[in-house]
Amino acid sequence: MATQIEPRPDTATRPRHVAIIMDGNGRWAKARRLPRAAGHKQGVEAVRRVTRAARDLGLEVLTLYAFSSENWRRPEAEISDLMGLLRHFLRAEIATLVADNVKLRVIGDYRALSADLVAMIDDAIARTAANTGPILVIALNYGAQAEIAAAARRLACAVRDGAMEADAIDETRIESELSTHDLPPLDLMIRTSGEQRLSNFLLWQAAYAELLFVDTLWPDFDGATLADALEVFSRRQRRFGGL
Ligand code: FPP
Repeated sequence: MATQIEPRPDTATRPRHVAIIMDGNGRWAKARRLPRAAGHKQGVEAVRRVTRAARDLGLEVLTLYAFSSENWRRPEAEISDLMGLLRHFLRAEIATLVADNVKLRVIGDYRALSADLVAMIDDAIARTAANTGPILVIALNYGAQAEIAAAARRLACAVRDGAMEADAIDETRIESELSTHDLPPLDLMIRTSGEQRLSNFLLWQAAYAELLFVDTLWPDFDGATLADALEVFSRRQRRFGGL
């Protein structure tokens, strides 16, 4: 029989790990008759604010969905704007991340991005690797179904090579193959802009997470909005399948 993952009995009222689907940049810009790029630019400002607020509010991990594996379907010019903003963010924020003792992680197949960005990301990860404070996880070219499929492939290869028995594949083994395996469990998933979908983000990890959909457009999100979300979380009763 497959081993059941023991859900963490959680009496804590503050989440350790919060993930955010940052949505609404385009609508923020449209409402101001600005190009979509202006919305993404303000979105980066929100990333800066919220990263600092997460640290001040005592979160251990903040995971942000910056670019999904489906975002390649956007017009080339918009993809290029987003990559430019990521470049700018890494260049401008690395010193702050180092000074704030924040450790940067990236999940998703970021090696498919342009070579200069991959080098910048690797450099930023290396420069914050020894930091011991909160972890900022940026999801880039990330898709949860692809992540789970890759985990299944690795386990299938291990079985084929005689390194493990097929019967040994259980939830714990699959989880250990995910990019988040060494992070605290996801407690709270927030999506901004009123949309109520997970859009292929952390599907496995969200199994017991609280979901919160807020109307705020991502460029308007700030420390107060995050504090409000944590307040809502603290009033939720988490059951993990029990009573
Ligand atoms: C959704 O808004 C947002 C994105 C697809 C990208 C999020 C990216 C950033 C905030 C900037 C880059 C991030 C970092 C970490 C530097 P949308 O364009 O789908 O908005 P809409 O639904 O209103 O059109």
